[in-house]
Amino acid sequence: MKRIGVMTSGGDAPGMNAAVRAVVRRGESLGAEVYGITNGYKGLVEGEIHRLTSNDVGGILNRGGTMLFSARYPEFKEKEGQLKGVEQLKKHGIEGVVVIGGDGSFRGAQSLSNHGFPTIGVPGTIDNDIAGTDYTLGFDTTVNTVVEALDRVRDTAGSHGRVLVVEVMGRDAGDIAIWSGLSSGAEAIVIPEKPFDINVIVKNLRDGFAAGKNQGLIVLAEGVMPAAELVRQVQEIDDSFNIREVVLGHIQRGGQPTARDRVLGSLFGARAVELLTEGKTGLCVAVVDEQIATNTFDDIFNKLKHVPRLHLHELNEFLI
Ligand code: ADP
Ligand code: F6P
Repeated sequence: MKRIGVMTSGGDAPGMNAAVRAVVRRGESLGAEVYGITNGYKGLVEGEIHRLTSNDVGGILNRGGTMLFSARYPEFKEKEGQLKGVEQLKKHGIEGVVVIGGDGSFRGAQSLSNHGFPTIGVPGTIDNDIAGTDYTLGFDTTVNTVVEALDRVRDTAGSHGRVLVVEVMGRDAGDIAIWSGLSSGAEAIVIPEKPFDINVIVKNLRDGFAAGKNQGLIVLAEGVMPAAELVRQVQEIDDSFNIREVVLGHIQRGGQPTARDRVLGSLFGARAVELLTEGKTGLCVAVVDEQIATNTFDDIFNKLKHVPRLHLHELNEFLI
């Protein structure tokens, strides 16, 4: 394979740059020229395709975001958009492409492969919601960023005897909330994957204050409800709490990737390009029990399920 394309799509995630760098440098070491496609599927369809050399990816390993930019482009869900994308790739002499992104991006990647164009996916999303992999690229950095924010929130909550409800990202998945909540000793972690009882949460908060705690922290996954609504539900039962909400928002998506995400991005990117040169398509890389593995797109959409670590959620309830 002489020419390989690489693109990032969907929400950016820390570590995407490490993966791009690995695709370029491992690709070159295998004798291929690598081309960067900017702005996700929009850029692909519009032909934003440029040669990337080893030099071009210098100095990006430690940077958050994605040097290839990203975009949401619903038009790629239609066959017409997908065929235009394949046409652009062929026009530039590209014989295989690595797509770094989340669930939606993988559906686009699967369609390229189904149209006969060799395509490999790299799971890059802070949400950790892709089936068949223990971790996605960016999740570790985001959890650490959220934990730092929660530590700060605790300082101020404790100074005022407050309850703080902190809404974190994750789309429909509770992984960010579970990991950051356990790491911060949250009094409650509210996630989409497990029903919660608002009366139990209020009782635990009351018990905590009665036992001498000077604060309460509730970590809420965005997929459940907005933070303001949870505040309202708590106040409806007990309006004596001094309670506020914080929505962390995009702060949790940016920033320098952790060493773990740099390593994961490097491993994912290198393996993805190797798979293309081995003539493979329709696969995405994964990490399972600390080993780099692969799944078919078909399996991750139809057979495998993303399993949140509910045992961590249960453990937290013993530790508050
Ligand atoms: P993520 O990849 O982070 O899950 P999105 O769900 O927004 O982010 O998807 C990113 C992009 O992938 C979309 O803007 C669109 O271009 C493409 N995409 C999403 N769903 C599909 C689909 N069913 N078929 C083809 N392309 C899709
Ligand atoms: O998929 C990553 C993510 O940050 C989700 O956690 C969040 O729901 C969504 O993207 C936000 O998307 P946008 O940046 O387009 O508002």
